[in-house]
Amino acid sequence: MPKIIAINQKYKITMKEIDWSNLSFGYMKTDYNVRIYHRNGEWGKLEVCSEETIPLHMAATCLHYGQEAFEGLKAFRGKDGKVRIFRLEENAARLQSTCRGILMPELPTERFKEAVIEAVKLNERFIPPYESGASLYIRPLLIGTGAQVGVKPANEYLFLIFVTPVGPYFKGGFSTTPYVITRKYDRAAPLGTGIYKVGGNYASSIWSLEAAHQKGVSNVLYLDAATHSKVEEFGAANFFGIKDGKYVTPKSHSILPSITNKSLRQIAADLGLTVEERDIPVEELATFEEAGACGTAAVISPIGALYDLDNNVTYDYGMKVGETCKKMYDHLQGIQYGRVEDVHNWNVVVE
Ligand code: PLP
Ligand code: COI
Repeated sequence: MPKIIAINQKYKITMKEIDWSNLSFGYMKTDYNVRIYHRNGEWGKLEVCSEETIPLHMAATCLHYGQEAFEGLKAFRGKDGKVRIFRLEENAARLQSTCRGILMPELPTERFKEAVIEAVKLNERFIPPYESGASLYIRPLLIGTGAQVGVKPANEYLFLIFVTPVGPYFKGGFSTTPYVITRKYDRAAPLGTGIYKVGGNYASSIWSLEAAHQKGVSNVLYLDAATHSKVEEFGAANFFGIKDGKYVTPKSHSILPSITNKSLRQIAADLGLTVEERDIPVEELATFEEAGACGTAAVISPIGALYDLDNNVTYDYGMKVGETCKKMYDHLQGIQYGRVEDVHNWNVVVE
């Protein structure tokens, strides 16, 4: 039984206040978060907390030197009433990879799993109803809390998970929206931290993202930082293109290895498409019949148009969601909501 600290019922939200079908991708306070501290070289017990704040030393390495990692995964309430968490071992493994990348202690998969399931169970009333098409977003976070002034790893860490019910990440949900290519800003250096899920990658994308939003487009497509000649990924999602019965997605050291993309590669193969993970020269964008952004938050967000403003070129994929994107979306969400058989054992059913 985990230790429960600081239960504050005062601000408890009632379910009547939630408009499940019109949720945005935003933060909503839920009942509890879970925390595990790493002190004296070992992980402690899982603690349950209802406070939204963290007591933090002002010299904590997460604040000054970006020693922080996060993850994102989702729980879905199925038509059968069961709650399924999608591919949580993959998120545990990616967090461990990030930890190796920026010298933080790795949380074992079993501890990660226990914490995710506990956070979901404790906030069960916030898992959106099946009919709403919404889901419970699960946000694990690992930060260096120990004080340092020189640049070096902290001697103490905090792992925590909060959850929040969410709707679509990009406005409009599963409909086509425009995106923009940038060459003015890079998300990640060729041998930098792009492959890890660290906050710094998002800091470097905030300026160009805001500029893109002001132009009315959903997100920014980054190119490889060394040559700006190959497609990399969006600020919060991977890229894929469809043509001639092929699912094509970039391969690069500076792209975050998306678990959704990994799943779509499998789904594409299961649906009879050929899967190619390779360099995508910018000019090849003109040859795709369909294109999309994919990720936990984005699910599949079909691309209507991609603006290359530097070259005054628009890659137009049409206003209507393409047939292949639709098939893959239905299959992926079908597995997540329990409508399609989970043949690859991707879901963890919460008992
Ligand atoms: N790329 C970036 C930069 C992201 O932030 C995300 C979101 O997690 C993804 C890709 C998609 O990864 P996943 O499918 O594991 O959520
Ligand atoms: C996710 O899809 O889980 C992400 O982490 C994207 C995020 C930056 C909103």
